[in-house]
Amino acid sequence: MSSEDAMEPMSAQFFTGLGVAITGSGSATPETNLDNAALSQIVETSDEWISTRTGIRQRRLSSAYGSLNEIAAQAAQNALEMAGVSPQEVDLIILATSTPDDLFGTACLVQARLGATKAVAFDLTAACSGFVFGLVTAAQFIRTGVYQTIVLIGADVLSRWVDWGDRRTCVLFGDGAGAVVIQANARDRLLGFELRSDGSQNASLTLAYQGQAHPLLENLAIAQGTFSPIGMNGQEVYRFAARQVPEVIEKALFRANLSVEQIDWLLLHQANQRILDAVAQRLKIPNEKVISNLANYGNTSAASIPLALDEAVRQGKVQANHIIASSGFGAGLSWGSAIFQWGR
Ligand code: ACO
Repeated sequence: MSSEDAMEPMSAQFFTGLGVAITGSGSATPETNLDNAALSQIVETSDEWISTRTGIRQRRLSSAYGSLNEIAAQAAQNALEMAGVSPQEVDLIILATSTPDDLFGTACLVQARLGATKAVAFDLTAACSGFVFGLVTAAQFIRTGVYQTIVLIGADVLSRWVDWGDRRTCVLFGDGAGAVVIQANARDRLLGFELRSDGSQNASLTLAYQGQAHPLLENLAIAQGTFSPIGMNGQEVYRFAARQVPEVIEKALFRANLSVEQIDWLLLHQANQRILDAVAQRLKIPNEKVISNLANYGNTSAASIPLALDEAVRQGKVQANHIIASSGFGAGLSWGSAIFQWGR
């Protein structure tokens, strides 16, 4: 074993000899910016309330004519350019989203926009955990040798489903997209993961279909309707995240044979600065290692982790071989952690 090998953490989890690496990142956000002062003209709130309780100062909103597939494809294009991979080389596109342009799926529209003619494409729905769940899903296709090059996108346009009259929720969310290119690699850079779900707490955070009976025949009625705006029990969600996220990161670190001290960056779903602070404090991770950009974007759901990752990479903060502990958490309830090293 060379001295370089000796310094590399070895993935202990399901390692088959086929490694996984994240070789590029990209992001895209709508141009329209809504800051807290402007939001205070829509609902009774203030910059002071929003920024002290959440850390959010502004958010980007998709225009009336914007689409999810447009920003998702732009983020993917940027990630492919960083990785030096052409769209025609892509085997699989996974689009993690809860706000599709089409309930039948939006990933195929992204495939068409990219010109990724060889790729199969599908949507994955796991709310704010979507990126982490998607990363682990992508890794399985590579580790089994089925695919070599995968684009994973996390994108959401939650502004479509927020109740803009509800100040308890509308101040929290924003629109955006982030993407990574995941490739087969000699070294395995996905070091460990843990995924969890608990449907018994589903009511804490919902964007649920509400149908009304629509009679077709005398003895036959079906339901037709639409989705109700986002409903959230803020304090329950806060308690859930502060308790479960440190635990799931510790489990993923255990699977990776790593200690908390070996993490270079803590990269959490950008829900709320108070959640980021609570998790970092619980894990005894210093603030300098916590990636946070929610002040500028709010909670962009499945997009938040790849959007923050892409900014940190392009700012030169995240560098080759850095170890990143990521965690997504949200509706389902669902949560998970993936520990990975940046670069090939
Ligand atoms: N502006 C001004 N006042 C407000 C606002 C607002 N935007 N929203 C609520 N208030 C008021 C309430 O009406 C209430 O007033 P009252 O005491 O007169 O009734 C008071 O502020 C306190 O309301 P709470 O809901 O108790 O506020 P809390 O301190 O719990 O903060 C928050 C709310 C920020 C949502 C908090 O619960 C939280 O951080 N929860 C985590 C949830 C989260 O981050 N969700 C994101 C989506 S889920 C995900 O991505 C994981």
